[in-house]
Amino acid sequence: MYYPDDVVERVRMENDIVSLIGEYVSLSPKGGSMFGLCPFHSENTPSFSVSSLKQLYYCFGCGASGNVISFVMQKENYDFPTAIKALAERARIELPEERYTEAAKKDAKTKKTLIEIHKLSARYYYDKLNSDEGERARKYLDARDIHPKVRVKFGLGYAPGGWDGLCKFLDEQGYKEPILLKTGLIGKNNAGKLYDRFRNRLMFPILDIMGNVIGFGGRIIGEGEPKYLNSPETMIFEKNRNLYSLNFARTLSPKELILVEGYMDVIGLYQAGFKNAVASLGTAFGQNHAKLMKKYAGVAVLAFDGDDAGKRAALRAIPILVENGLRVRVLDLDSTKAKDPDEYITKFGKDKFLQELSNAMSHVAFNIKQMEKEYDIQTDTGKIDFTEAAAKLLSKLPGEIEKDVYISETSKITGISDKAIRAEILKQSRNLVGGTPKLRRNFELSAVDKRRQKGLIEAKKGIILYAAEDKKIALAIREVLNPKELKDYVFVKLLEIIFNTYDEGGNIYPAELVSRFESHEEQREASDIFINTITPEDEKSKFKALSDHVRAVKKAYIEEQLFQIEDDNEALKLIEAKNNLEKLYISL
Ligand code: UTP
Ligand code: MN
Repeated sequence: MYYPDDVVERVRMENDIVSLIGEYVSLSPKGGSMFGLCPFHSENTPSFSVSSLKQLYYCFGCGASGNVISFVMQKENYDFPTAIKALAERARIELPEERYTEAAKKDAKTKKTLIEIHKLSARYYYDKLNSDEGERARKYLDARDIHPKVRVKFGLGYAPGGWDGLCKFLDEQGYKEPILLKTGLIGKNNAGKLYDRFRNRLMFPILDIMGNVIGFGGRIIGEGEPKYLNSPETMIFEKNRNLYSLNFARTLSPKELILVEGYMDVIGLYQAGFKNAVASLGTAFGQNHAKLMKKYAGVAVLAFDGDDAGKRAALRAIPILVENGLRVRVLDLDSTKAKDPDEYITKFGKDKFLQELSNAMSHVAFNIKQMEKEYDIQTDTGKIDFTEAAAKLLSKLPGEIEKDVYISETSKITGISDKAIRAEILKQSRNLVGGTPKLRRNFELSAVDKRRQKGLIEAKKGIILYAAEDKKIALAIREVLNPKELKDYVFVKLLEIIFNTYDEGGNIYPAELVSRFESHEEQREASDIFINTITPEDEKSKFKALSDHVRAVKKAYIEEQLFQIEDDNEALKLIEAKNNLEKLYISL
């Protein structure tokens, strides 16, 4: 659910940050700000500052920062809309009634009823599991060593073998055929008779992020086909917008989420203390899943099954996660003797699993490892082909620091020396930038690159700060720079918002810009920029600094494009584009 920007802004403005944070932390004035003990890490001397002027907070110890909305999100672990609701309530602001059409109103009512029915059904299955009828299912859970507490936590249940147990139960509760058919739990046969979709199965309720039951997975007890039967898509059950157990995982404010394939993997991990595991719902992992994960964590650790299907699924999920800004690591079960994470824990225990987790490799290393299997590394030609393919993958990485890390990982996997891989990457990039010796030197000198990388971030921050400070400057920046050239999502979006705000005749308030981002991580990145303030300068040195920044950003942007022009069949078509870019580069 989304609120319009002006509503968000009103809620933010009417909750003064000093007074709100004061409810959680005791603050005292020091040098123009308020200081207190940071609520996000443990410390003995106050390094947590709150600025009434900027309406932002910042911790010099752990780097936490944001506006009043970020604070509530982080402290209460709310998502964005929930934080808005809580803050609106605190400031006694009435949030706008969502303007429903008649049809939408009816839909909302139907959805509410469907959720009610699911809750009752979950209760029904749960009671059945713990009745005489549930004995076989209970024995099955015993055999798999699922603890009673965990059964309750996940609301596990049992759908009995008859054809209409649930039908009768729901009928007694007063629900009639039309709504029952919308639940996906009840079917209708040719003779017009209603029947239970799930029969003689172990039931896994699927909860949405708020904890509503929205569907079920049903496992056959023992062997048989199909192993799992899932609720079909319904008005309340969208498989690509929900993840199993995310409602539990999110309350831990995890740094990383473990992504597994199966319900039982999630439960097995949970029981072993890894409560941050989630799984998709019997469907392939998709864009919306990744977006959902990104809301709650910055890192995804893939722990898929060790078979080929699991590997393929991991290779498919990786780019989706990366695209959505998650850092991705992969726990490869291949080398061990367990088919999935659940079995791994049963066989080897949680300490071993923890060790596997901390050894999880980067997604690039995983990719390279998979690639390794395609080539016969025992032969010289195989080794050369492989190194070339790996170098090609690595040469595409944008960051030099990242590249460094992966070069040594690749070296570890293959036994090929760092130096040889680096030479191969260089060979590949020489093909790309043969005509620009200066660029080539940059690819070679990684210490210099690292410093440049940092300088580049500072330049981007500088541009945003200058643009936010002064409309005239912002307009001048727009003449020469496209926001997209800033590359990083938060920077690009900030500059776009700043330009738009000026276009609409508005003013820039840093704390307002922060709440244009929905994830806590992005809010932190954005507010981090405004913690710095530009030291007052004369016009001339301001102009000098700004044009240095713009030049640095544009150069990096062009370098990256040059770098991405690959030496393949497309090359001829691209040579012209490349020449143009080079001319532009030199002129800069
Ligand atoms: P798995 O077969 O790996 O199941 O399928 P699992 O969760 O590890 O269960 P156990 O340990 O064998 O009991 C992974 C996931 O794929 C979906 C389910 O979501 C399952 O959890 N699946 C699998 C289906 O939807 N239908 C099937 O027939 C099989
Ligand atoms: Mn399993």
